[in-house]
Amino acid sequence: METTLVLIKPGGVNRNLIGEITRRVEARGLKVVGLKLINAPRETVEEHYAEHRERPFFNDVVTYLTSGPIVAMAVQGTNAVKAIRAMMGATNPLDATPGTVRGDFALTIDDNLTHSSSDPDAAARELGLWFPEGTVA
Ligand code: PPS
Repeated sequence: METTLVLIKPGGVNRNLIGEITRRVEARGLKVVGLKLINAPRETVEEHYAEHRERPFFNDVVTYLTSGPIVAMAVQGTNAVKAIRAMMGATNPLDATPGTVRGDFALTIDDNLTHSSSDPDAAARELGLWFPEGTVA
């Protein structure tokens, strides 16, 4: 059993995709064990993407994530990390397979709608950052 983090980025919230993305997660058999709609503090977003601090896109991604409300969701289930990554599709929507969230709803990397943890260690770190109060399970 694993727990992973999904962020629905401002583009996803703006486009009213909260329900569609959450529906897909639940339909897959995964359990939502934490859920909040927030204006993410810049410091939290910078910490979240800390490993990319020196990359040319760092400011763009931080600006994007703080440009409007986001949904933070903790998702639990067997192999949840890998299952969620596959459901979201490739980071660059142009490489994302149809049937994935990005393959169905996104076109560009600067508006790729969701984030999901890359591996169990990243999931533990990111869940601690976005759900310091803990999750319900
Ligand atoms: S790498 O090189 O594979 O480690 O980086 P990558 O996974 O491609 O990207 C890391 C995160 O940065 C986001 N990103 C961007 N956001 C906005 N604008 C631009 N140009 C951009 N380029 C990369 C990318 O979506 C990754 O964020 P997440 O939240 O994991 O999707």
